Amino acid sequence: MPTDAVSAMRCPVCRGGLSVSPPPRRSLLCSLGHSYDAAKQGYYNFLTGKGTAFEADSADMVAARFAFLDAGHYAPLQELVAETVSASLTGRAGASRKFPSILDAGTGTGHYLRSVLDKAPGAAAVGLDISKFALRRAARLNPDAINVVWDIWQPLPIIDAAMDVVMVVFAPRNPAEFARVLRPGGRLLVVTPLPGHLAEIADRTGMLGIEDNKEDRLAAAMASHFESDGGRNLEFTLHLNPGAVADAAFMGPAGHHLDRSALRAVAASTDDVTEATARFRISLFTPRKHWSGRDEATGDRMEKQQP
Ligand SMILES: C[S@@+](CC[C@H](N)C(=O)[O-])C[C@H]1O[C@@H](n2cnc3c(N)ncnc32)[C@H](O)[C@@H]1O
Ligand SMILES: [Zn+2]
Repeated sequence: MPTDAVSAMRCPVCRGGLSVSPPPRRSLLCSLGHSYDAAKQGYYNFLTGKGTAFEADSADMVAARFAFLDAGHYAPLQELVAETVSASLTGRAGASRKFPSILDAGTGTGHYLRSVLDKAPGAAAVGLDISKFALRRAARLNPDAINVVWDIWQPLPIIDAAMDVVMVVFAPRNPAEFARVLRPGGRLLVVTPLPGHLAEIADRTGMLGIEDNKEDRLAAAMASHFESDGGRNLEFTLHLNPGAVADAAFMGPAGHHLDRSALRAVAASTDDVTEATARFRISLFTPRKHWSGRDEATGDRMEKQQP
């Protein structure tokens, strides 16, 4: 059980700190007695009993993403994310904790966090995702992280200023909460697809297009809580067999609307190997020293000065 990560977490009900239960150490507990048992695969579900308005990725979508990532098609992106996160962890001026800490918001199958932890062994890591199908896989891939079913749009089960890095790879962004959980001087890393990403297969497979001004919209959406800290683009060529073409389409947001077997038939009618260009942007942000917003619990306007 990665106890350093647990010390960065708070109870989703009363917001008190969490600790690990006595042996066999399979539960997380707060001092008011709220208790969360590990599922047999090792993840925790903090959303039990609460409805959520968001459509989680299905088991099939998660299986497609797992197969695609496990085949290494996005390895150059995983490598660059891992390098960027580990560079952000060196020095850690202003950090109050002994071990570096990382939040992977929308961790999915956990492949990106795995690459990060391989480069930063010993880091305390929490992976959040709304899909329990994704977390079953993530918990197996990253037993050295705490993996929790949670909705990024809700107040996060993480204590204030606990994280050195928050990483968000193709997942929803909650700027106020990311700013709250990052320590002063911490870093937010956001990965988004660029216009033209997988354009060669997009039309054929019904994938959703990427808007041209997505980068500006990202900066604008983050501006209330974050200052831009640069970033870089990454482009590389994929060589995809028909199964991988179908997986690429099915694992993204369009997967909610596509029929997997029809997609496989379309993909199978194409060349043995299709070349497609992956285009990504890694954007970096640092929390603003001073921001104003609404209190998450009361909805009141508030001003916050980072210590
Ligand atoms: C496109 S996937 C990316 C997953 C992973 N980061 C990757 O790149 O492989 C988006 C992920 O965000 C998760 N997700 C979507 N809405 C969410 C929410 N409101 N709260 C938490 N996770 C969410 C999905 O379940 C999915 O695993
Ligand atoms: Zn509690």
